[in-house]
Order: sequence, then C-alpha cells, then structure tokens
Amino acid sequence: MSDAAIIVNNLTFNYGYLKVIDDISLETPRGISFGLLGSNGAGKTTLIRLMVGLLKPAGGSILCLGKPPSPANARNIGYMPQLPSLYTELTVEQNIDFFARIYGLRDRQARSARVNDVIKLIDLVPKRKTQVIKLSGGMKQRVSLGCAIVHQPPLLFLDEPTVGLDPELRVRFWEHFESLTRAGNTLVISSHTMDDAAHCQQLAFMREGKIIALGSPAELRAATGKPDASLEDAFLYFIRRGEVQANV
Ligand SMILES: Nc1ncnc2c1ncn2[C@@H]1O[C@H](COP(=O)(O)OP(=O)(O)OP(=O)(O)O)[C@@H](O)[C@H]1O
Ligand SMILES: [Mg+2]
Repeated sequence: MSDAAIIVNNLTFNYGYLKVIDDISLETPRGISFGLLGSNGAGKTTLIRLMVGLLKPAGGSILCLGKPPSPANARNIGYMPQLPSLYTELTVEQNIDFFARIYGLRDRQARSARVNDVIKLIDLVPKRKTQVIKLSGGMKQRVSLGCAIVHQPPLLFLDEPTVGLDPELRVRFWEHFESLTRAGNTLVISSHTMDDAAHCQQLAFMREGKIIALGSPAELRAATGKPDASLEDAFLYFIRRGEVQANV
C-alpha cells in the first residue's frame, strides 16, 4: 500500500456550467496536517466533499488510505463540515453518542468512555445534557468536532474547524490536532487564517478551483524571494503571480 494518505489525480467537478474544481492533483503523506487555504469560493469545501465521497467527481480519481471514497471506507474517515450538521433537539452527549454508534463503536461501556473523553476534550462537560439548539455558535462548532473525531479515524477532514473558537480553545484544538498527527493520523484542514496554516506541515493555496501553490510553509515563504516573508505575503505572492500569468 502507498504511504500516501490521499492521492488525487486530475480531479474536476462542476456545478452546472461552473467549473468549481479544475484539474487538481495532489498527494498527501500520512501523519501530517495538510492545510487548504484560499479565498471565499476557491473550492476548499467542494474539494473536501469530493474527498470524503459526498460529491461525485466529473473526472479524475481520489484514493483515501488506498481506497476510493465510499461508505465502506467511512469508518476510516472523519468529517467536520463547515456548517455544523447536528441534531439540534438532541443533547451534546446524545449527538456524540449517535455518531459513535453509526461509526461502529458497539460496545456500550467503551462507547460511553470515549464519549466522555470527547466531551472533556471539547470542554463541554457542564453542557453535556444541554440541547444543541441552546448552545452558542462556538459551542456548536465544538460539538461538531467531537462528532467527527469520536471514532478516532486515521484520516480526518476538518472544514474551517477553528472559526468562532476563542483563543484558548484554538490553542487546545491545535494541541489535540498535533497529538493526532504525532500518533500517525492525517488531517486535512481548511482555513482562512495564517495562524492555522503555520501549524500545517504541508499547504495548498487554492484559487478558482485550482491549486496555485503546494509545499511546506517554509517552502512557500521562501518562494517569494524575501527572507522575512510571512505566510500571508506568500499567499498574496502566489495570488498576484496567478493574476499576472492570466493577463499575459
Ligand atoms: N450547491 C452549490 N450549487 C452551486 N454552486 C455552488 C454550490 N456550492 C458551492 N458552489 C460554488 O462553488 C464554488 C466553490 O465553493 P466552495 O464552497 O467549495 O468554496 P470555499 O473555498 O469552501 O469557500 P469559503 O471559504 O467561503 O468556504 C463557489 O463559486 C460557490 O459559489
Ligand atoms: Mg468552504
């Protein structure tokens, strides 16, 4: 089996006449955080939805842990959508327990222990019996993360997981993400913040359905030719370079 967590070849996807994913190829090694950065509408969510198998490509291929995305591979994959998709009439605990059950954690005792651990991790112990509808936006975000990680998948897709989190929780989330990658799991994380990007070992900058740059944060900064360039500078450098090339 290949050492790559994800292999995408010449992937395309359209919404009607709109080309949303335009011939994307990439390969992600296992055990890293892979960041997807791009402006609104660049195609990050669409790419993630293709990789988890919720959308069908118009062309090209995807392998996640050596297999095409399919329900049979779902237990190996965790997905936190950009907009939380929770059962808002159910409590925090019931939501996480529900996802644990559908991902096959059958043993009641083990499941209950794991649900407890996840509730502690997302710092919602006092709210465990509260209906999700009564939580703040950031708290819903935390429940959504809890549901995505409860079955401890080796490959985790997180669509803007740090949006709406307070700074302390953001730090705590990144500590947890780093413990997951240290244990050999692979994370794909979309974000708009360079703070998140700096935590990733590999980054893809996206624009209008294309990957315009791929590399480690240090490589992307170095590509600007400026020794003190920030990741923000690097992102703008590749965006502007694309505009110049498009206008030639
Ligand atoms: N269900 C849909 N029907 C039609 N067009 C869509 C649909 N979902 C997304 N799009 C379009 O696809 C393009 C990519 O959208 P996508 O949500 O993947 O971007 P994104 O990079 O995740 O943006 P954001 O940073 O705002 O979350 C946009 O032009 C968007 O308008
Ligand atoms: Mg998105």
